[in-house]
Amino acid sequence: MNLNFLKQASVFVIGFMLVNSCSQQSHKGMGPTGTKGMVVCAHPEASKIGLSILQQGGNAMDAAVAVEFALAVCYPSAGNIAGGGFWIVRTSGKSVYSLDYREKAPLASSKDMYLGPDGEVVNGLSTQTILAAGVPGTVDGMVRAHEKFGTLPWNTVVQPAVDLARNGFPITKLQAASLNSIRKALLERNSSKPVFVSDSIWKQGDLLIQPDLAKTLERIRDQKREGFYAGETAGLIIRQMQESGGLITLQDLAEYEAVWRKPINGTYRDYHFYSMAPPSSGGLALKQLLGILAKWDLKSLGHNQVKTIHYMVEAEKRVYADRAEYLGDPSFVNVPVDELTSAKYLSKRAGEIKEDKATPSDSVRAGKVTPNESMETTHYSVADRWGNAVSATTTLNGGYGCNIVVKGGGFFLNNEMDDFSSKPGFPNVYGLIGNEANCIQPGKRMLSCMTPTIITKNEKLFMVVGSPGGSTIITSVFQTILNVIDHGMTMQQAVSEKRFHHQWRPDLIQYEPEAMDSLKVTKLLSMGHFLKKTGKIGRVDAILFWPDGRMEGGADPRGDDSAMGF
Ligand code: DON
Repeated sequence: MNLNFLKQASVFVIGFMLVNSCSQQSHKGMGPTGTKGMVVCAHPEASKIGLSILQQGGNAMDAAVAVEFALAVCYPSAGNIAGGGFWIVRTSGKSVYSLDYREKAPLASSKDMYLGPDGEVVNGLSTQTILAAGVPGTVDGMVRAHEKFGTLPWNTVVQPAVDLARNGFPITKLQAASLNSIRKALLERNSSKPVFVSDSIWKQGDLLIQPDLAKTLERIRDQKREGFYAGETAGLIIRQMQESGGLITLQDLAEYEAVWRKPINGTYRDYHFYSMAPPSSGGLALKQLLGILAKWDLKSLGHNQVKTIHYMVEAEKRVYADRAEYLGDPSFVNVPVDELTSAKYLSKRAGEIKEDKATPSDSVRAGKVTPNESMETTHYSVADRWGNAVSATTTLNGGYGCNIVVKGGGFFLNNEMDDFSSKPGFPNVYGLIGNEANCIQPGKRMLSCMTPTIITKNEKLFMVVGSPGGSTIITSVFQTILNVIDHGMTMQQAVSEKRFHHQWRPDLIQYEPEAMDSLKVTKLLSMGHFLKKTGKIGRVDAILFWPDGRMEGGADPRGDDSAMGF
């Protein structure tokens, strides 16, 4: 364990102990623990709400719904009611479900809607305008999740978010800086000043009070789905579409449905994992990465050592090349899931990796498979005393989505349409490229990287894990899993460790400055890799289940994330 990690972890641990007295601190490098329940998410206000639902006797799914709505209030850069996401649920009865509440392209959308008369992509159209907004999925998703699994009444799990919006909460230092940084964009893109713009400048500890959002959440509390997709809230959304030139219609809202899907599942060493199937690429990519890496004994190679990094990066290049070629919404394209994740295919891909030499991305192609007949974010992890667990990733895509707040509704619209491929080969905001499989079609879901994952060992819960971070979601989750399974770290260590990332194109290992020293960088360069230091990669919020019955929360010190257990 390196010194920086210890420093970082202890700062985090002290900070955490100040806000939470329920959990016990075991030893350095270990996150907060509990035996009856654990919530790990991006904001302490939302963690508190989730914890209180668990303490009232709610199950992990009740708490997860409460956290999702709470994040829509206290973490508006990614928490949302007008975005979308994915849930992986494992019940105490050992059944695993996945819920897709991803946004959809409006019925009036079209393949070339972001291209100008010259056939080129118009800069910013798919990210910074109302045309970037997909049909929101979050509220329908939460209603369906609660109807299937909830044990507390719906209004009990929504009410804490109403109160948080009405009474306000003190913003963190990071949030003050973040809101100040989008002030200009908010004023430019909204015809009247939203509550997210302060009269002067935001400071840590200022109260963010959201009366319009409180009313919208009350309608959702009282009318469930209809409180958002019909009636007053729908009217406000449509008025905003008319004012700003958007495409979403009442029909789009009325027809939106979240979908239960079969999770991707597989084994890695002695563990079984469940993750999100298309329209997220996350689960499939994770299965490919773990399947390829299983060839090497990573434990003896060592954490973040040159050979380990080399094998991981070479696998990542191949996996992201497949993603660009084959993945999209399975209701529209035939995604060859079984072929891309078969043991034979993955061992062939592993065989392409040279021991001492990088393969240039230009020479890496999507593998040849034949499809059979028959594709600012935030993550939260919740577990209860009965053995239920929820792994959930939810998003508006960019920070504060397209920065347009529905007037009178008080919530941001997403800019998820940028996750489609605007034009084959043209990179989206995360530098990801796509092809026909992920082109825009009315009613289609855009491809995602979100990778909410649950891992079991001997049929018992072992880990709940996920991350935001656009294209780096998959590799952040991948590294966290290897950190625990192969490198023997605690949950907190695994989450805090520095990360690196490769996504095939550009041909670049991006790395957090402390992830590797100059010796390792020099060695990797000599093997033909290209490297670039980058900012923070991912924000993983995860739970590890220890054999003695403790659940350990690992909250990412890269943000305001917090773990609370009891
Ligand atoms: O679905 C996706 O893959 C992206 N819309 C996620 C965006 C994201 O993670 C932004 N957060 N940092």
